[in-house]
Amino acid sequence: LVLALWAVIGYLAGSIPTGMIFARLMNLGNLREIGSGNIGATNVLRTGNKKAAALTLLFDAAKGAIVVLIASQLASKDAAQLGGLMAFLGHCFPVWLRFKGGKGVATYFGIMLAVNWQIGLIACAIWLFVAGVSRYSSLAALVTAGWIPLVIGFITTGEMFLLSAALCFLIYIRHWGNIMRLRKGAETKIGAKST
Ligand code: G3P
Repeated sequence: LVLALWAVIGYLAGSIPTGMIFARLMNLGNLREIGSGNIGATNVLRTGNKKAAALTLLFDAAKGAIVVLIASQLASKDAAQLGGLMAFLGHCFPVWLRFKGGKGVATYFGIMLAVNWQIGLIACAIWLFVAGVSRYSSLAALVTAGWIPLVIGFITTGEMFLLSAALCFLIYIRHWGNIMRLRKGAETKIGAKST
């Protein structure tokens, strides 16, 4: 019952569409009609408003982190990991947007940092490196999500392995359109404004 409770809390927290909320509050237009149509920070940045993008990144990450931190304090490690996974699913499939949500990358970083900050920092470093070199946000997310389960397998006792593998799988599914665009050379680079 405790696990089910944290699953519901995680889903509800994750399903808050912060990108949409900031885009609306700051009059940035309809994110669905901008760039990739996604509700995440990368697409908010395509409106040209860096502050809104930073706030979206921060709040989407916080959704995952807060659920994990509170669940691990009040309940258990299992509740924390399940709550984190459900926050990720809530972000990707929010009931409020008819289950058409985001791609989960910011929330992924929040979850990773909260479950194990060292692994979280390694994830951030991989993302920053790939994004810095390629200028593709989606490619950076895909490389990060793919490497983290391996990093966990090599340098930890492996208790996060299943969570990171499940999140990796979901990130690849959510980025299918991006993968196709990357293959065709049609993906938009970070910071390019949407026309
Ligand atoms: O975090 C989402 C990012 O990896 C891709 O976003 O808008 O380019 O599809 P977008």
